[in-house]
Amino acid sequence: MKKQLQLLLFAFLLTLCLAAAGWTSGGHGQTAPKKVGILLVAFGSSKASAQVSFENIQKNVKSAYPNIPTRWAYTSTIIRKKLAKQGKFLDSPEVALARMMDEGFTHVAVQSLHTIGGSEYHDLRRTVGAFKSMGGFQRIILGYPLLATQKDMQQAVHAILETIPKERKKNEAVVLMGHGSHHPSNAFYASLMFQLQLKDPNIFVGTVEGYPGVDLIKELLIRNNIKKAYLMPFMSVAGDHAKNDMAGDEDDSWKSIFTRAGIQCIPILKGTAEYDLFVDMWVDHLQGPLSHFE
Ligand code: CO
Repeated sequence: MKKQLQLLLFAFLLTLCLAAAGWTSGGHGQTAPKKVGILLVAFGSSKASAQVSFENIQKNVKSAYPNIPTRWAYTSTIIRKKLAKQGKFLDSPEVALARMMDEGFTHVAVQSLHTIGGSEYHDLRRTVGAFKSMGGFQRIILGYPLLATQKDMQQAVHAILETIPKERKKNEAVVLMGHGSHHPSNAFYASLMFQLQLKDPNIFVGTVEGYPGVDLIKELLIRNNIKKAYLMPFMSVAGDHAKNDMAGDEDDSWKSIFTRAGIQCIPILKGTAEYDLFVDMWVDHLQGPLSHFE
């Protein structure tokens, strides 16, 4: 017991000494000036229509944190390659962070612009972890995606109820199309549908690549005797999935599948990041990391 106390005291004194010597703040005994930055990380999109979403996020982050420099990164290699061919060069999170290190940032808040904490988010978490253990930044912290906590779920329900078309009647459905994932976090979509339906039984959440799929959503629409449905992407941008898988004219689009089941479809091609109510949630999540830098 006495030995433990001595060890504790030793650790405490050592911490004090290191802090006094500015040990933690870089080479040659000099304290690197504190420079806080934000890195916004999206999956990315090559569609020009998606740009409105990204610009809206940028505008909201700037107005919340006018004095903090902001950088962007896209996680999708395919999209970065497509954009590079058009002369637009976007960084991967790894390159963006290396650049920020080079620019002398000491504290970086990395904000995920993903919807759920799926594989993309966890890849990003691994990258942030690698930069953390490498040193170089004094602090680097990753912010939550859109849906992480129960508070997020409640805010998302509120945001959805506020953004569905005003002309929609209660006996008409709203079908949100999420991306979906093989990652366990895919469960957020069904959870969101459950919480939405406590407020409004004709709002549905399906996914392109996960559960619930389009066939199950079709069954549910038929069971509720739905004759008309508003289709909305539950993705930050109205990109390829929204345009083709949701609203396209191909036989296997959601619009075509529901139309064949006798349901009139009205697609709305607007990503969640075009609505401030959703963007506010991502911007709020930046508070977590940034509050640790004070
Ligand atoms: Co996809």
